[in-house]
Amino acid sequence: MTASANFAPEGVSGGRPPSPGTLEETQVRAMFDRIAGLYDRMNTVMTAGLHHHWRRRAADLAQCKPGDSALDVATGTGDLALELCARVAPGGSVIGVDFSEQMLALARVKQSAYATGPRAVALRFEIANALSLPYGDDEFDAATVGFGARNFSDLQQGLREMARVVKPGGRVVVLEITNPQRPPLSTFFELWFDRLVPALGRLAGDAQAYSYLPSSVRRFPGPEALAGVMSRCGLTRIRYLITAGGIIALHVGEVGEALTGEPAGADRAPAR
Ligand SMILES: C[S@@+](CC[C@H](N)C(=O)[O-])C[C@H]1O[C@@H](n2cnc3c(N)ncnc32)[C@H](O)[C@@H]1O
Repeated sequence: MTASANFAPEGVSGGRPPSPGTLEETQVRAMFDRIAGLYDRMNTVMTAGLHHHWRRRAADLAQCKPGDSALDVATGTGDLALELCARVAPGGSVIGVDFSEQMLALARVKQSAYATGPRAVALRFEIANALSLPYGDDEFDAATVGFGARNFSDLQQGLREMARVVKPGGRVVVLEITNPQRPPLSTFFELWFDRLVPALGRLAGDAQAYSYLPSSVRRFPGPEALAGVMSRCGLTRIRYLITAGGIIALHVGEVGEALTGEPAGADRAPAR
């Protein structure tokens, strides 16, 4: 890999070499700023348009009702925040946060859909780091993160922050790509992710970003391990479902009454 002006390749961190699929925060932000203009189109090409369906399912798991307030963390170009708007309307509020200004600029273009009319929602897109959210405890009825947790430099800190800002009894939802375990899907996944996705990235002019994607998925905890991390972040009644032939995992947990930071005795029920 070669370095470009605003992107240090994997393995170049100025100190201890990071593990594959890991980038420092400044590198993640620079990467998303750089690919923002490509992001929505690449998602559609890479998933044959299914990414919208997966975000709809994530928003359903947040179980928001009209008038609720919801937070979408690492919102990117805002599509999951817009799904949440459809569920809190009318009268609810949604905030989408991200640390990439360029991704947020594209999210704001979509904002007008909920600005006025009978299903208006107070929707804001704000710049913030997921690891240190600028919101008080218990502010939201639900928080979601779609395809973002994988990029957190400290997964536990990111999930702990989401749990902190959600009211007791509220939901925290994590939508992520996961590695299918069994052939033939694991074989297809390898072909798709290790060859097709980087090739599409080369075609689109950003080979580095789209070779980071498969390696970041590989190093991300599997569904059961992720449920364990959520439990250690104070979430209870954790459930997850695997869909899209084993490549998409949707996790949901509830914020416990007292957020102690210790394992909350998760009632884990894998739902397939
Ligand atoms: C793969 S995109 C996902 C965007 C969107 N949620 C979606 O469903 O398409 C990952 C996003 O996470 C953001 N991100 C990663 N780490 C972050 C952090 N620590 N704080 C805020 N945003 C972060 C990136 O800037 C990027 O926009």
